[in-house]
Amino acid sequence: LDNGLGLRPAMGFNTWNAFRTNIDEKSIRATADLIVSMGLRDAGYVYLNLDDGWSERNRTADGRLAANKARFPSGIKALADYVHGKGLKFGIYGDAGSMTCAKYPGSLGYEEVDAQTFAEWGVDYLKYDNCYAKQEQWVIDRYAAMRDALNATGRPILYSLCDWGVADPWLWASEIGNSWRTTEDIEPRWESILKILDYNTGLARFARKGAWNDPDMLEVGNGQLTSGEQRAHFSLWALMKAPLLIGADLRTIHPDSLAILKAREVIAVNQDDLGVAGDLIWMQGANRVYAVPLAGGGRAVVFLNLHTTGGQYLTSNITVYWGQLGLPAGRSALVRDLFAEQDLGEHTGSFTAAVQAHDVVVVRIMPVGGVQGDTWRPWH
Ligand code: DGJ
Repeated sequence: LDNGLGLRPAMGFNTWNAFRTNIDEKSIRATADLIVSMGLRDAGYVYLNLDDGWSERNRTADGRLAANKARFPSGIKALADYVHGKGLKFGIYGDAGSMTCAKYPGSLGYEEVDAQTFAEWGVDYLKYDNCYAKQEQWVIDRYAAMRDALNATGRPILYSLCDWGVADPWLWASEIGNSWRTTEDIEPRWESILKILDYNTGLARFARKGAWNDPDMLEVGNGQLTSGEQRAHFSLWALMKAPLLIGADLRTIHPDSLAILKAREVIAVNQDDLGVAGDLIWMQGANRVYAVPLAGGGRAVVFLNLHTTGGQYLTSNITVYWGQLGLPAGRSALVRDLFAEQDLGEHTGSFTAAVQAHDVVVVRIMPVGGVQGDTWRPWH
């Protein structure tokens, strides 16, 4: 959406994956404090977004949305002020139907008054869900109505569409929102991560600055995912130019998960100036290569090993050839490991990574002397 927002994928925190509807102002304030004290704000995670469960069960007498009195006694405006005071931005959640998925009031038919309420509260980001929608009102109209209402407030509010990919939003949503969910809800299990990853294959070409595919929020730090699986999840989401929204409880997150979320050179791939989304470029058996062009002619490459054989994990040597990356075979390039933040030397023509099972190696390949007039977009 051409509203000047989301020129890079949004980064922040959302309450859903960690807390579901069990949210209150005390825990949100604590989360804001932790985002700052743990260095996450400075790593780029600036949005603190409430998901479903923040509201009263009914609208006020004058038809307005209101914060749940028991759990948000100070109200949303005060909470947004607190979050802003921490140097963060504040996000909220609504629904393009008659009720949210957790049966709080939806915004269908109330788009203008609700957008006005959000703007008055100081909201910077709206996630807009798709539960309890009237069948006769087409999804594009319902999402466009809130876009227009947000626009009319005059307040810049990043608009995140959440139709779960059911109406092929990549075909229409770039004019409606700053991002659109492409799938059903993510779960903190490897199978769920892979299912969502595969569903997003081929969608990179629909993304651009201000309009991103959203393969759902991060599960880094949740469930039983191994470190390798969390690295894979995080780096592939970064490469796809997904919004990077942390979904783990920061009070209890494991240091290894925190380190993955703070991997600054992987984050830099996500936030790269070129603003092109990456995608799958090669697969054979359990081995895959994902790639994305970067500003200045570099490429970021994620080597992924899906091996599990009879419960026995296998390491793979996976090679990428310059030709697969739109680089001449004779060019020499500096290869750097982006999780280790370590140079791996100059290579010409190809690079081979040794990848553990259920893990990734993530590198940047930077041609010596750069690349002029780079137009490499293999999936267009
Ligand atoms: C469905 C969405 O896909 C989830 O991300 C979350 O927002 C829930 N609804 C909240 O009810």
